[in-house]
Amino acid sequence: MKVVVTKDYTEMCKLASRIFAAEITLKPDCVLGLATGSTPVGMYKELVQMYNEHRVDFSHVKTVNLDEYAGLSGDNDQSYRYFMNHNLFDHINIDKANTNVPNGTAADLQAECERYEQVVAGMGGVDIQLLGIGNNGHIAFNEPCEEFPEKTHVVDLTQNTIEANARFFSSMDEVPKKALTMGIGTIMKAKKIVLLANGPKKAQTIYDTVYGPITPKVPASILRLHPDVTIFVDEEAGALLKK
Ligand code: PGA
Repeated sequence: MKVVVTKDYTEMCKLASRIFAAEITLKPDCVLGLATGSTPVGMYKELVQMYNEHRVDFSHVKTVNLDEYAGLSGDNDQSYRYFMNHNLFDHINIDKANTNVPNGTAADLQAECERYEQVVAGMGGVDIQLLGIGNNGHIAFNEPCEEFPEKTHVVDLTQNTIEANARFFSSMDEVPKKALTMGIGTIMKAKKIVLLANGPKKAQTIYDTVYGPITPKVPASILRLHPDVTIFVDEEAGALLKK
């Protein structure tokens, strides 16, 4: 695991965007694993800017997102499909047919998880996976638990996550209580992984991820067993690493 402490959020986003752009240059039809949340917004802005400057071409790129809220359709502005369209896909030359987000309104959520797992496998796996991290160490919506979940599954969100995500909704009651998420096994199959974290609220979980025991109670800690992971943190999220 490589850890890069950047001066600030802007530098973190710039560096991470260059890694994704390089992947696309080297393999124009690569599969990008993408993430939502406030952390990757700046990186997506950088990629849009690079696209506008003709420095990156998304025409053959395929994408798979990590997760989606159960019960929210893609045109709901809180859904992760909406987030991806709004923050990235609507501004670049990607074919939306090549972009995948779990369907949060599928009649049978379990069947949707199985379908999604097959979609990822059918694309030949993810070439480079972007991750954020929850204050509680979750990656995608794999919440702290007793055993690492392997495949795409339906998850009950923890109170910590519901509270952390309430800022995007008009009230806490509106935050969905369930989500569909890639499993830890799905994520660990990616060839490369880039995790981003910024701000003081992430400092403890970044410390636990890098130095603590590898445990499903800190889901991101398993990334230490992956052969190609780079963690970018700003100085605040990396503050405890130096001690
Ligand atoms: P955030 O969420 O980027 O909004 O902090 C990260 C996560 O929960 O994975």
